[in-house]
Amino acid sequence: MKLIFLGPPGAGKGTQASGVSAHLGVPHISTGDMFRSAIKNQTPTGLEAKRYMDAGELVPDSVVIDMVRERLAMDDCKSGYLLDGFPRTVEQAEALDQISAPDAVIEIDVPDERLLSRLTGRRVCGKCQGTFHISQLADEHACPICGGELYQRNDDQPETIATRLKAYHDQTEPLIDYYSGEGKLHVVEVSRLKTVNGDSKPEEVFKTILATLE
Ligand code: AP5
Ligand code: MG
Repeated sequence: MKLIFLGPPGAGKGTQASGVSAHLGVPHISTGDMFRSAIKNQTPTGLEAKRYMDAGELVPDSVVIDMVRERLAMDDCKSGYLLDGFPRTVEQAEALDQISAPDAVIEIDVPDERLLSRLTGRRVCGKCQGTFHISQLADEHACPICGGELYQRNDDQPETIATRLKAYHDQTEPLIDYYSGEGKLHVVEVSRLKTVNGDSKPEEVFKTILATLE
């Protein structure tokens, strides 16, 4: 299956993608994670992406589309994919329809007022990449799974979060119309979009996503 998770920063795309990709037997591809890894390895793509990410702005379409095209050409994507954080603009969605069109799009819907505390309280493990919220952690610095050191993402600061949310509403939300076939730019007979309520416990959101996919 070829699946997209759409949703604002902090909606729980990454949290849900690990379990759902394992369930479906397809790779979890997060463009945000790919950029963070490129930054860590100081590749040209990473160096270019960093200034946009630190400012909370979207990386230019051409850079992201080339990166995703290369990734989707890899062998493990023959069974499909779960894309998390891509596409984020209508131009990216049109490019994906040419490269390998998705079967379904799950929009994880969470009201804006819930997102700030989710993001400012997020901690990520530098070793196993596990994602947590400080409210779940006995020790804010050590990963409860592997003991690795937890860190806070550079873009999880309140001012940057505000810019990211604005980018979501201005540039990414038009994809809701694009995939539901209501946009002027793209007309499909059957909507590929399903919206799930992301404002409940992670395990409940997981069950809703699986039920929606069936
Ligand atoms: P990216 O890494 O994709 O960030 P994002 O879309 O802003 O989304 P997040 O990763 O912040 O949130 P999430 O939905 O994954 O939430 P999570 O599961 O972690 O992109 C970063 C940057 O890269 C962009 O700003 C841009 O610059 C660039 N970029 C990436 N892709 C791009 C593209 N296609 N085009 C252009 N630029 C691109 O959960 C968040 C927190 O909430 C955690 O603490 C978690 O524990 C908690 N939580 C999760 N679920 C629940 C729940 N149900 N209830 C309570 N808490 C929950
Ligand atoms: Mg994420």
